[in-house]
Amino acid sequence: MDETPERQTSRNVASLNQMLKFLRPYLAQLTAAAIALITTASVTLSAGQGLRLLIDKTLTIRSPDVLLVSIGVFTALILLLAAGTYARFYFISWVGERVSADVRQAVYANLVRMHPGFFETNRPTEIMSRITTDTTLLQTVLGASASIALRNALLFVGGVVLLFVTNPKLSAIVLASAPVVVAPIVLFGRRVRRLSRTSQTAIADVGSYAGESLRHIKVVQAFTHEAHDIEMFSGRVASAFDIAVRRIRQRALLIASVMVLTPAAIGAMLWVGGNDVLAGRTSAGELIAFIFYALVVAGSAGAISEVWAEIQRAAGAAERLLELLAVNSLLAEPERPEPPTQPGAIAFDNVSLSYPTRNGEVALRGVDLRMAPGEMVALVGPSGSGKSSLLDLVQRFYDPTQGVVSVSGVDARRLSSSTLRGQVGYVPQNPVVFAGSLRENVLYGAPDASDDEIRHALVGANALEFVEALEEGLDTRIGEDGQGLSGGQRQRLAIARALLTSPRILLMDEPTSALDAQSEETICRTLAELKGRCTILIVAHRLSTAGVADRIVVLDQGRVIAEGTHDSLLRDNELYRDFAEIQRMNGTEEARNVR
Ligand SMILES: Nc1ncnc2c1ncn2[C@@H]1O[C@H](COP(=O)(O)OP(=O)(O)OP(=O)(O)O)[C@@H](O)[C@H]1O
Ligand SMILES: [Mg+2]
Repeated sequence: MDETPERQTSRNVASLNQMLKFLRPYLAQLTAAAIALITTASVTLSAGQGLRLLIDKTLTIRSPDVLLVSIGVFTALILLLAAGTYARFYFISWVGERVSADVRQAVYANLVRMHPGFFETNRPTEIMSRITTDTTLLQTVLGASASIALRNALLFVGGVVLLFVTNPKLSAIVLASAPVVVAPIVLFGRRVRRLSRTSQTAIADVGSYAGESLRHIKVVQAFTHEAHDIEMFSGRVASAFDIAVRRIRQRALLIASVMVLTPAAIGAMLWVGGNDVLAGRTSAGELIAFIFYALVVAGSAGAISEVWAEIQRAAGAAERLLELLAVNSLLAEPERPEPPTQPGAIAFDNVSLSYPTRNGEVALRGVDLRMAPGEMVALVGPSGSGKSSLLDLVQRFYDPTQGVVSVSGVDARRLSSSTLRGQVGYVPQNPVVFAGSLRENVLYGAPDASDDEIRHALVGANALEFVEALEEGLDTRIGEDGQGLSGGQRQRLAIARALLTSPRILLMDEPTSALDAQSEETICRTLAELKGRCTILIVAHRLSTAGVADRIVVLDQGRVIAEGTHDSLLRDNELYRDFAEIQRMNGTEEARNVR
C-alpha cells in the first residue's frame, strides 16, 4: 500500500513477465486468436464502408445486378465474420482455460513441497480459496473478458480512425460533446459496480453465517440458539436486500440515461449531418456510415468499461497467485545429497529449536540424544515439553535453530528429503485419515503392498478385527477427516499405515492415546517384536508403552532432564515418579505386565 509508484510498476512488470511465461507455450493458439481477432474487427468495420457504397452507389445506379453482387459480398462477409468469431472465441477461451489450469497445477505443486511452517503463517483455507477463486477469476477473464476487451479495443481504435476518415468535421463535434453523454453513464456505472461489490460481500456474509450455524447444528440446538440465529440471519438478509435495492436504483438510472442520451446524441448528429446532406456538402451514405462508426465506437467503449473492473480484479488475482508460485521452501534440498552411512541411527547434538512463528520462545534447548539402529526409546514428559517437536526434527519438518540432527549417520540437511522420509514411518499425534477407502488409507505410503502385507500390518495395529467387521471390509469408504470412524479406529489405521511401509525408523506420537487397554496391549506386543529390527522413537503418555522401550527419556520444558530404564527413573527422577504414581492411582499399571 505504501509502496512508491515505481516499485508498484516494476512489480507489475515482473508479474506480467511471469504471466507471459505461462502464455509462451501456446504461441500457436495465440497467433490463431490474433488473426481471428483482426479479421473479425476488419469485417465489422468494413460494414460501414459497405453501407456507404450501398446507399451512394448501388441504390443510385438503380441496377438490380449490382444490388445482387452487393448482397453476395455482404453474405460472404457475414460468413467470414461467423468463422472468425468462432475461431477467436475458441482459441482465446482455450488458452484461458489452459493457462488457468497450468497456473493452478504449478501453484499446488509448489505448495505441497513447502516447509510445514509456511502453513502456520499462511492459513490453508485462505490459500485454498486463492487456488480456487483466484484461478477461477483468472479463467473467466482470460477466457471471456480478455476476448471482449481485445475485440472492442480494436473496434474502438479502428472506429475512431474511420470516423475521422469519413467526416472530420462531424467527428470533431462528436468528440467535443462526448463527455456530456459519457459522464453520466460512467458515473452511474461506477456506482453500480461499487454497489454490486458490496452486494456480493453482503451475500457472502449471509452464506457464511448460515454455513457456520448449520455445520455446528448440534451446538446451536443444544444451546437453544435457534431463535437468536434466525434473528441474526434475518438482519443480514435484510441488509443484503437494502444494498441490492440501492444497486437496482442506480442501475435503473443507468439504463434510463443510456436510453435517453444515445438517441439524443444520434439525433444531434442527424441534425448537423442532415443539414450538410441537404446542402450537398456530404452524401447520405457518408452520414449513415458515420453514424454506424459512432455506434461502434460508443458500443466498444461501453463494453471495455464493463469488463475493465473485472480485468483489474484478475490482475490482482494473478499477482496473488504468482506470489504463491514465487515462495520457496525454507528447507532447501541439498545440492549434493549424501547417502546414509549408518541406516537407522538417530542423533541429536546440542539441538535447540525456536519455531519461526514464535521467535521468542524456545521449544527445545540443548538436546543431546543418541539412538543406535534398532533401539527403542520412549519420550515422556508434560504437555508442551517438546516431544512432538523432537519427532518433527527427525523428519526435517523444521531445521534446528542450533545444533545438528543426524539421521542414519548424516546431518538431516544433507540427506535428500526422499531418502530421509523414505526411511521413516510416522504416526502423528492426531491420526490423519483421508477421504476415500480404508485400503487407500492403509496403502498411502506403500502403494504396491500385497494383500498379505496389508493383513500383517492390520494385525500389528489390532485393526483387522474392526475392518473385517465392516460390511465392505477394506473397501469401506470414509468421509473427510475420517468421518465414520471412531477416534481409536482412526488411530489404529494410522499405525497400520506406518507399519506397512516397513520403515527403518518408526516415529510414533502417542499412538495409543485413544485406545482401550486390549488394543494397547496388542500394539505393545507388535512394538516388542519390531524392536531390534527398526529404530523406534515413541512418545508415550502411558507407562505401559514406555515400558517396552530399551530406554526412557524424560523431557521437561524443552530439555532432557533424565534418561534410563523404568526402574532407574523411578528411583532417581522425581518427575517420572509423580508421573508413574498418577498412573498407578488410575489403575493402569500395565508397564510391568507387558514386560
Ligand atoms: N508449529 C508450532 N509453532 C509454534 N510453536 C509451536 C509449534 N508446535 C509446538 N509449539 C510449541 O513448542 C512447544 C513444544 O511443543 P510440542 O508439540 O513439542 O509439545 P509436546 O511435548 O508434544 O506436547 P503434548 O504432550 O501436549 O503433545 C510448546 O510450547 C508449543 O506451544
Ligand atoms: Mg505432542
